Amino acid sequence: MKLFLDTAHLADIETAVGWGILEGVTTNPTLAAREGMEFPDLVKAITDIVPGPVSAEVVAETREEMVDLGRALRAIAGNVYVKVPMTREGVAAGAVLAREGVPVNVTLVFSPTQAILAARIGAAFVSPFVGRIDDIANDGMSLLSEIVEIYAVQGYDTEVLAASLRHPQHVAHAARLGADIATMPFSVMEKLFNHPLTDIGMERFNADWEAYQAALADKRSDVSGSGGGTR
Ligand code: G3P
Repeated sequence: MKLFLDTAHLADIETAVGWGILEGVTTNPTLAAREGMEFPDLVKAITDIVPGPVSAEVVAETREEMVDLGRALRAIAGNVYVKVPMTREGVAAGAVLAREGVPVNVTLVFSPTQAILAARIGAAFVSPFVGRIDDIANDGMSLLSEIVEIYAVQGYDTEVLAASLRHPQHVAHAARLGADIATMPFSVMEKLFNHPLTDIGMERFNADWEAYQAALADKRSDVSGSGGGTR
């Protein structure tokens, strides 16, 4: 399962690239709005940092407008994936773009039948929103599991991108279910590293190493102090 960041915040993206684990970025209109940059400039800046897929969403009413916007976004960089919403217009636009060879990410997916539509238009990614299903007291992971199963049974090529992940347990669960990609906020990605026993272990190793080096230094100074005058 590949690990993507769900953010448009350049500093966080740079940090995660530095960790050597980031394989892509997803953005959405809400995340882009927080950054206060022109959207094409923002997308360009992200694609300059991340070598993997960068999903950028089209915001428009009609399929024609979405197709035009999608083509324009795709022209920004070769790793732009065009995000279209799971609406009739969005799916129609996604179908046109996918036929042109543009990688499409179908977003706002909340049911298995919507995921089937995404696969049938040849989308590169389908994005079920796990956390938002949990928010309405349903089981987001059951939806993810159903989609993964349907895609395997049907042999669909579309990759399942688990989105709206809110905590590390979501990430681990998505991996167990066979999601191809997990996208998460920076705060969740940071937490993937954490374990108190790792911290305790590091403290002990560092303390023991320092004591060991100090003991060796003492030994060296004893030897040089006593053995220096034998001639
Ligand atoms: O990738 C989809 C994601 O941005 C939605 O997350 O937390 O707003 O439900 P959230």
